[in-house]
Amino acid sequence: MIKASDFGPDFLWGVAVAATQIEGAADSYGKGPSIWDTFSKRSGKIKKGHHPATACDFYHQYQSDIRLVKTLGFKIFRFSISWPRVLPFGKGPVNKEGIRFYHDVIDECLANGLVPYVTLYHWDLPEALEREGGWTAFSINHAFNEFTTLCARTYGDKVKNWIVLNEPFGFTSLGYMLGIHAPGQTGLTSFFSAVHHAAIAQADGGRILRSEVPGANIGTSFSCSEVVPYTQSEADVMAASRFDCLMNRLFIEPALGMGYPETDWDVMEKFTIQHSTWRHTGRLSFDFDFIGLQNYFPITVKYNPFVPILQAWEVKAKSRKKPHTAMGWEINADSFYNIIKQFAAYPNIKNIMITENGAACHDKLTGNCVQDTERIEYFRLYLGALLKIKQEGINVTGYMAWTLMDNFEWAEGFNARFGLVYNDFKTQQRTIKDSGYWFQEFLKS
Ligand code: NOJ
Repeated sequence: MIKASDFGPDFLWGVAVAATQIEGAADSYGKGPSIWDTFSKRSGKIKKGHHPATACDFYHQYQSDIRLVKTLGFKIFRFSISWPRVLPFGKGPVNKEGIRFYHDVIDECLANGLVPYVTLYHWDLPEALEREGGWTAFSINHAFNEFTTLCARTYGDKVKNWIVLNEPFGFTSLGYMLGIHAPGQTGLTSFFSAVHHAAIAQADGGRILRSEVPGANIGTSFSCSEVVPYTQSEADVMAASRFDCLMNRLFIEPALGMGYPETDWDVMEKFTIQHSTWRHTGRLSFDFDFIGLQNYFPITVKYNPFVPILQAWEVKAKSRKKPHTAMGWEINADSFYNIIKQFAAYPNIKNIMITENGAACHDKLTGNCVQDTERIEYFRLYLGALLKIKQEGINVTGYMAWTLMDNFEWAEGFNARFGLVYNDFKTQQRTIKDSGYWFQEFLKS
């Protein structure tokens, strides 16, 4: 039976959340609208018309929620600062109530012996900046630097652990190419512009934190998925390689000073022309103290000539009759092992932290119980793979479970439950699931 102590006494255990997904109070206390506030008002964008206006009401319940993190036995609480809560227009006038709120959250963490890990950008762009083009506009970098400087100067004496961006591939692809996340932009031109500005923001953010926060431990978090060709045919193998460039290599490689993976994916070259700064690899890289990796599932891809540009398509877990979560995401701990090893093979990554991992299940509240045995099994498998990685000498120093409690799962609304704690969104009643109790026992071991 796997034990937390197998990972060593210094291994860091945490739980992660994000502002939009839990806070609520979306249009009060001086907060400006974010792209998610406006996007969720557009018909058909979020399942069942859900919106994050109240979410888990963390804004009012942060004290008991943070105590819950402690009760479960975690040492790290990872949360994000809502950019439009502190800068309602994205830049310019500061919202004092917003500033105070995060002071309160940080103080509550510290009072409970929890180490705050603060994410600067977890997808809630101020709507005012989206009107200027959002991540596709060069002006975003000035605004992001202003936001970063404000956060660093305001909280830097209390917060030492920072994550600059959360899953840049996630918000640029879903929000600026496919249009299924906020702000709903589509097309490759907007996607590649957003990619480039996010890559700049990532490295600039690191530099600002380094200069403003003495003793800062600075990271940034990437989504990653092992990409597996459906067959060993040359066409499928090449399709998998293109997918790998897009999903795994697009942000880490410029951050490490390697530039974009253009040579293995020629379509990128076409888009580089529009940005004179595209090849300024110096500005795109930063010497991060840790790299955050977030993995949920592998992807199996097949060559498909009808898909523009990528000429590849995913063959879903369900159609391959593989075990999968309520999101349809394949459960495969070997692929977790493989993708972490793929990233660990990059030279000059000092240290890896798993900053998110978890599963959505069809949870049912019965009385005061949620028997989420599938989720417990998921964590057992994935933590087993992580232990193997650690025992092979890879410098993985922490693990954060996604997520504390069921919350607003972006375009899925409240329908996908990922929490260790069940949330009744009508009453805001929290109930620790069996997986929460499992973690509590595990962390004691
Ligand atoms: C990644 C995102 O960072 C987080 O916000 C999301 O809820 C989880 N994955 C699950 O989809």
